[in-house]
Amino acid sequence: MKSYFLKAAAFCIILACTDLSAKDISSFPIGKEWLDNDGKHINCHGGCVVEHEGYFYWFGESRTGGHSDGISVYRSKDLYNWDNLGYAVVHQGNRDDDTLQDISEGRLLERPKVIYNDKTGKWVMWAHWENGKDYGQARVAILQSDKITGPYEFIRTMRPNGHDSRDQTLFLDTDGNAYHLCSTNMNTDINVVRLTDDFLNCSDNETLIMNGRRLEATTVCKVGDTYFATFSECKGWDPAPGHTATTVGDMLGDWSEGLSFCVDPDSNRSYGSQGAFVFSVGSLGYDPKCFIFYGDRWIPSNVGGSTYVWLPMSVRSGYPTIRNYPDTWSLDEVMTDMYRFKRAATIIDNGEFALLERNSDRLMSRSGEQTGFCIANDDDNKNVIFVFEATSDPYVWRLRDKASGKYLSVSSGMLSEDSDGNSKKSMWRFFRLTDGYYNVVNEDCRKCLTVAGDSRADGTEIKLEPVGAGNAQAFGVYFDSKRNNYKEADMFSKTYFEELR
Ligand code: GAL
Repeated sequence: MKSYFLKAAAFCIILACTDLSAKDISSFPIGKEWLDNDGKHINCHGGCVVEHEGYFYWFGESRTGGHSDGISVYRSKDLYNWDNLGYAVVHQGNRDDDTLQDISEGRLLERPKVIYNDKTGKWVMWAHWENGKDYGQARVAILQSDKITGPYEFIRTMRPNGHDSRDQTLFLDTDGNAYHLCSTNMNTDINVVRLTDDFLNCSDNETLIMNGRRLEATTVCKVGDTYFATFSECKGWDPAPGHTATTVGDMLGDWSEGLSFCVDPDSNRSYGSQGAFVFSVGSLGYDPKCFIFYGDRWIPSNVGGSTYVWLPMSVRSGYPTIRNYPDTWSLDEVMTDMYRFKRAATIIDNGEFALLERNSDRLMSRSGEQTGFCIANDDDNKNVIFVFEATSDPYVWRLRDKASGKYLSVSSGMLSEDSDGNSKKSMWRFFRLTDGYYNVVNEDCRKCLTVAGDSRADGTEIKLEPVGAGNAQAFGVYFDSKRNNYKEADMFSKTYFEELR
């Protein structure tokens, strides 16, 4: 009997061990345990993902509890399954509290970012540096290496051009320039500075953006001439509302603030995450505008045990938006059709178009069985494709619902469909806005398409309100690239915005 129990116990232990061992995964675990290929918790927080010679390298803070163990680096081909390559940076040297020029044991390294310098042939890392006792130093540590995986040689710590620097990131631009962005002035503003040619220092070219907004956790990405940034509000380790900003043509230019990047419920907590990095997955065969937002779900009592919130980010609307997948999602499932609907360069007579609402990045759709309309996720059974029929006025169109054959119209003050396309009630004036969206105004009642209330969620009603009497009244004219091959608007270029002005 005894030996039976021993055998059974041994079997259970083997089972438990098997369960911990590496499994090939094919979707992202959101806020759950994410194991490396050795079956161990991925300890790589606040970091970045860099592509090099067919691999993705994931750098981040390695922590035991709150203690900084250095900067870890993992490697993957598919972004799901990661090999732990060990430390890119280990604490080293002697502590010198006079000069603060060390990364010795006990110092804190956070939010490491790595970029490659073409001119010097070196990999350069900047990380947030603190003395290990408090967050009062607000410095950066700068390191470089001949190899992507390190070891990275410590160059110096400093305050960028004298600015206090807490949450920070680097951005390598398409023209070879690199920029450092950090929360500064006690987390009140964001400083953006162009780096020197060797990426080891700051140039004099800098600007303060998002003044007084108290933001941190900056990420930056670029499409065409357009730069997109995401931020979180300053709430320490707690998930906070997200923010976005956009600038066209110049990193050091004027950034305009947009809405939160979260369009689903739980947006106030950014789906339980704080951003660390945004990167394209174009090299895996998807549209290069398909991005992953890498956030951390911090566990303040055990920072090293924190989990990850990697979510798909789209800029289809011209603004960064992130849907929530609370459990898991896979690249194929989400990225394949992320840019199926494209903004039309022009509206053409008899063209088939969908209306994309700006704030939610969702398409005008039918509300279930009812006659009404709502904003909804991409769904062939719900999204409305309108055939735009020209009128004698070039700004006024009849919108014939391709499925029902009837015209979008107004009846008793409500949106409806009517077989009469010649009445003013079935005519819509398109007022172009400075970002390429339109107010869509009924010729009869002069009210425009408006999403009800402040919700950006799937299924929120679209109704009619006077222009200016709603937050969500901007609709983009998009076409379904699976059905039509119309000319796409060059909506991320500088010239697109210049022509709209
Ligand atoms: C957050 C920051 C983290 C870490 C934390 C410490 O605001 O994003 O990287 O510094 O504060 O409280």
